Amino acid sequence: MTARIVGTGSYVPEQMVTNEELSQIVETNDEWIQTRTGIRSRHIATDRGTSEIAAEAARRALEDSGIPAEEIDVILVATSTPEKHFPSCACEVQAELGASRAAAFDISAACSGFVFALNVMYAFVKAGVYRTGLVIGADVLSKITDWSDRGTCVLFGDGAGAAVLRADELGIRHSVLGADGSKKDVLSCLSRSNGNVWMNKAPEMGYMTMDGQEVFKFAVKKVPECIRQLLQESGVREDEIRYFILHQANVRILDSVAKRLKQPLEKFPVNMDRYGNTSGASIPLLLDECNRKGMLQKGDKLVLAGFGAGLTWGAVLLEW
Ligand code: ACO
Repeated sequence: MTARIVGTGSYVPEQMVTNEELSQIVETNDEWIQTRTGIRSRHIATDRGTSEIAAEAARRALEDSGIPAEEIDVILVATSTPEKHFPSCACEVQAELGASRAAAFDISAACSGFVFALNVMYAFVKAGVYRTGLVIGADVLSKITDWSDRGTCVLFGDGAGAAVLRADELGIRHSVLGADGSKKDVLSCLSRSNGNVWMNKAPEMGYMTMDGQEVFKFAVKKVPECIRQLLQESGVREDEIRYFILHQANVRILDSVAKRLKQPLEKFPVNMDRYGNTSGASIPLLLDECNRKGMLQKGDKLVLAGFGAGLTWGAVLLEW
């Protein structure tokens, strides 16, 4: 028995911001952003928080699956930008959906978060703990973005994606996850620092900081490496994979991964041109687009792969 995706959904906030509009805030231009990243626009949350966009994506995934919220055993939300330290974003989503039977908790693995959460669901189903789950990736990075730093602010966007999983014969076949905490400072964001009454200093809030070139080097090496490991351990060849649904950070990273795996670029769907890097949301957002466009047929082999802060990385092989 394994866990199978039986429904997908996604949501992005209404406010769309183009490269041109960003160039009025920081010293940048459309040409630089497009050629270095492949991004043309992104959506930015102005009136809804992480749990609200997560719940909207989840609602759409439930609708697609035909499974009522009351049948969900567990809700997992991969996010780096919850609104509160507690309760978790997952508990807020549970309340919004009325999924009263479900256990609910968040998972923190930055842009790899959805792949990590999928793996947790896979393990729950394999162990016979739960049968039906909602796995969500949702982030509002715009609230931890330094809008005066052109090195980061042009890259990110807000959004949410969700998948309903159910115990089945067909579905997730294998997964590989990894982390390297020694590279924790390459991409990081301080949460509220300790400024208690004994410390004589005010608490600070942080913005995201990133060594872009280090992240780039890490991604182009680690992503193909972990996909190769995933496929070798599963006895599946690269050319048997219908699509590689990769974290949408930079189109040049996708090009490089495709080359290293010797696979045609057509197998690597892209939507970062319209959404930017939506962190934990990017993989389920893209998966939902592929699903709704009718690109996925029953039995298609897909690889989902993410990488991000931690540093973390992970890949999942599944049959649709
Ligand atoms: N507009 C115009 N110029 C810019 C901008 C901008 N937005 N940002 C940087 N520049 C300038 C720099 O100041 C530099 O100028 P200089 O040569 O005069 O010093 C020049 O452009 C080149 O800068 P680099 O940082 O060397 O540019 P690079 O080609 O490395 O591209 C980028 C930067 C796009 C960030 C790239 O390194 C990258 O994509 N890295 C991966 C980032 C990533 O994927 N992050 C997220 C992954 S994990 C997660 O999703 C949370």
